[in-house]
Amino acid sequence: MRAASINPVDAVLREQGAPRVPKTTGSDIAGVVTAVGTDVDAYEEGDRVFATGLHVGRFAGGSFADFAVVPTDLLAPLPEGVDFEEGAAVALVGVTAWRAMVHHARLEPGATAFIHGGNGGVGHVAIGLADALGATSVSTARPEYHDAVRKLGAETVLDYTRDDLTEAAVEATGGADLVLDSMAGTYFEMDVELAAFGGDVSVIAGGEATLSDVSAARSKELDIHMMSMSNLATHPDAPDIGPILARLGRLVAEDRLEVVIDRTYPLEDAAAAHRAVVEESFLGKIVLTP
Ligand SMILES: NC(=O)c1ccc[n+]([C@@H]2O[C@H](COP(=O)([O-])OP(=O)(O)OC[C@H]3O[C@@H](n4cnc5c(N)ncnc54)[C@H](OP(=O)(O)O)[C@@H]3O)[C@@H](O)[C@H]2O)c1
Repeated sequence: MRAASINPVDAVLREQGAPRVPKTTGSDIAGVVTAVGTDVDAYEEGDRVFATGLHVGRFAGGSFADFAVVPTDLLAPLPEGVDFEEGAAVALVGVTAWRAMVHHARLEPGATAFIHGGNGGVGHVAIGLADALGATSVSTARPEYHDAVRKLGAETVLDYTRDDLTEAAVEATGGADLVLDSMAGTYFEMDVELAAFGGDVSVIAGGEATLSDVSAARSKELDIHMMSMSNLATHPDAPDIGPILARLGRLVAEDRLEVVIDRTYPLEDAAAAHRAVVEESFLGKIVLTP
């Protein structure tokens, strides 16, 4: 392991406890192959690689460790020009944004995406990915992040505390072709109101969400997508993560997608990273290094 990054889900799963302890947390990893299984042809010792879905998929162990065992379908080569920190930082959030926007919603050039939480891990990469795809994005964040989120590619950034958020979002998007929501418990009604006719709402998180007017959603022929990284990492019918990572790696290598690293902790301070990802506001990702 040369770098790992923390995601909120790592803290959630830790709090839920483990069937067996000790348990190693951490879903994202970038590093160098030290050994391969007997059936593995695609990789060899010394390869630079990155992966996601370890902890979240409940495989043998997580990435907050000196070494990790990674199934090859969760893995891709890390391109030259992409450092280990960037590889670890982009993995889970990048695959999530890709699945939500490309696989589920089939985001097209010229479309408009509304992305909640533009300074967040998923949000900031989703804005960059929308830009790389030729789509326009509108996002939300605290005012202190507005300039940075615009630099990532968002056309407009709205303060999510404003009372008229829905109206402002409708005005800024003209009706969103895609809404990417990581807080459906708060924003599901807004998502549906904001989406354009024939639009997509991709939900990646949120506990209890209600929709008071199903007819409003039906009248717009909306597609609502519900997705989870843990499905992707474990379900036999889910597509492999490796090819998505490979494309994300290429975009980062070609400077067409930026992943922001807010700060880096040494591995022995993993507990601080677990606390920070839940308790603090920051732009982008928190990374751990050995
Ligand atoms: N389904 C999946 O496959 C999948 C994959 C990855 C993540 N997720 C989930 O998606 C969520 C986001 O993940 P992440 O890695 O992006 O987390 P993150 O880095 O902590 O980002 C959270 C974002 O949400 C914003 N936010 C917090 N409260 C808000 C509110 N009331 N209104 C609007 N925005 C608000 C934060 O802004 P502030 O900085 O101002 O607080 C921040 O921009 C988590 O619940 C995570 O578990 C799901």
